[in-house]
Amino acid sequence: MSNPATPPAVGVLDERAPLTFPPGFLWGAATAAYQIEGAAAEGGRTPSIWDTFSRTEGRTVAGHTGDVACDHYHRLSDDVRLMAELGLKSYRFSVSWPRVQPGGSGPANAEGLDFYRRLVDELLANGIEPWLTLYHWDLPQELEDAGGWPARDTAARFADYSQLMVDALGDRVKYWTTLNEPWCSAFLGYGSGVHAPGRSDGADAVRAGHHLMLGHGLAVQALRAARPEAQLGVTVNLYPVTPATDSPDDRDAARRIDGLANRFFLDPLLRGQYPGDLVADLAKVTDFGHVRDGDLATIATPLDLVGVNYYSRHVVAAPVPGAKPEPYWRAPSCWPGSEDVRFVTRGVPVTDMNWEIDAPGLVETLRRVHEEYTDLPLYVTENGSAFVDAVIDGKVDDVDRLAYFDAHLRAAHEAIGAGVPLRGYFAWSLLDNFEWAWGYTKRFGMIYVDYDSQTRIPKSSARWYAEVIRRNGLAAQ
Ligand code: FCB
Repeated sequence: MSNPATPPAVGVLDERAPLTFPPGFLWGAATAAYQIEGAAAEGGRTPSIWDTFSRTEGRTVAGHTGDVACDHYHRLSDDVRLMAELGLKSYRFSVSWPRVQPGGSGPANAEGLDFYRRLVDELLANGIEPWLTLYHWDLPQELEDAGGWPARDTAARFADYSQLMVDALGDRVKYWTTLNEPWCSAFLGYGSGVHAPGRSDGADAVRAGHHLMLGHGLAVQALRAARPEAQLGVTVNLYPVTPATDSPDDRDAARRIDGLANRFFLDPLLRGQYPGDLVADLAKVTDFGHVRDGDLATIATPLDLVGVNYYSRHVVAAPVPGAKPEPYWRAPSCWPGSEDVRFVTRGVPVTDMNWEIDAPGLVETLRRVHEEYTDLPLYVTENGSAFVDAVIDGKVDDVDRLAYFDAHLRAAHEAIGAGVPLRGYFAWSLLDNFEWAWGYTKRFGMIYVDYDSQTRIPKSSARWYAEVIRRNGLAAQ
């Protein structure tokens, strides 16, 4: 029984208070080229691995492709107007490599560059800071045919492409991230094969991860030399990894998955080394013979910021012989050498992706990067949720998505209070879009897209986010 004279716990009061973010906090929304642009064969664009993959039977739900997507290529001005109505301070988009450098080598395609020049100019004209991601998974098919990311030369090709982009847009784009989520490119693309190019070989996945990071380092050097004033970074997708119980075996399972999911990237990028325990865990998969002298120094080329994408947590348990493997991205084959670790669910609420909703995990993740790895400014470059939306009387009242954003922004604020130099937050996503292997069946947007008519309807979460941006924080609850 509670004593009526007892004041409420401090935490409760804090939750109800309005939360203000630091001045200049960069409020944004994110998208990616293949997920929204469409116009797959226009303006000189050639196929990427995602075109090939999505056109291959059985690879995406209902055979969906990005051929048309949100038709953003033809609706750029309307979409920028929607961003301006939201009051976005920044827009994070990615460049389609085969649109600007068809085939992945040789000269730039002027028509492709013009599209991004127009985008950037319209953003700037609307007071929206462009944030450019160079690689959000659409490798030119020709480079995959030449070996893809497991081949070392792809890193050099990526640096050339980055040079071409900074030559074209370096005068007007300040924020650049090289890679988006190299874990997905490497371990879903070449490990489990649920993402393009759909290959499945543990050693190739590890090599791909290394060459992605090498390409990142080379690109940072090229960008830095061209534009010393630019803000350069990389985006990694991180997960807190929690053992299901405190048993030594479960804790070891958590150590292994943390190694593959998080430290595989954080340690080389921010410390210039692979963790010893990870190398040992992978001993049966690879001898790391693909790592050459000097690679790790290149990979650890100094940055200006780190982008963190956060969606959920992994809870794992020690292997049990004969246990049934988890489907999709937790499929055993995206964890080479640790295939038998079990991913467990806790029965907490999940999104339409079946991802557990875990806002405190964002605090944990940001604090970890700051406290264990770097003093650099951090940005949440993606955070969001898929839910089933219904259009009723021309409106979409996405209360679940709104609550997800609200909880995670409260977590972001808590992380700032704990000393994390968090400088911005990008909602995933501006628009409903092509959700990779799930096609158009999962909606992450703050703006609803009717794919038949290409009508856009800002959802309740969009209106709410506009208010958050206007206040630079959250209203009292
Ligand atoms: C991230 C991707 C992004 C989107 C969200 C839901 O892993 O970077 O393109 O698919 O997940």
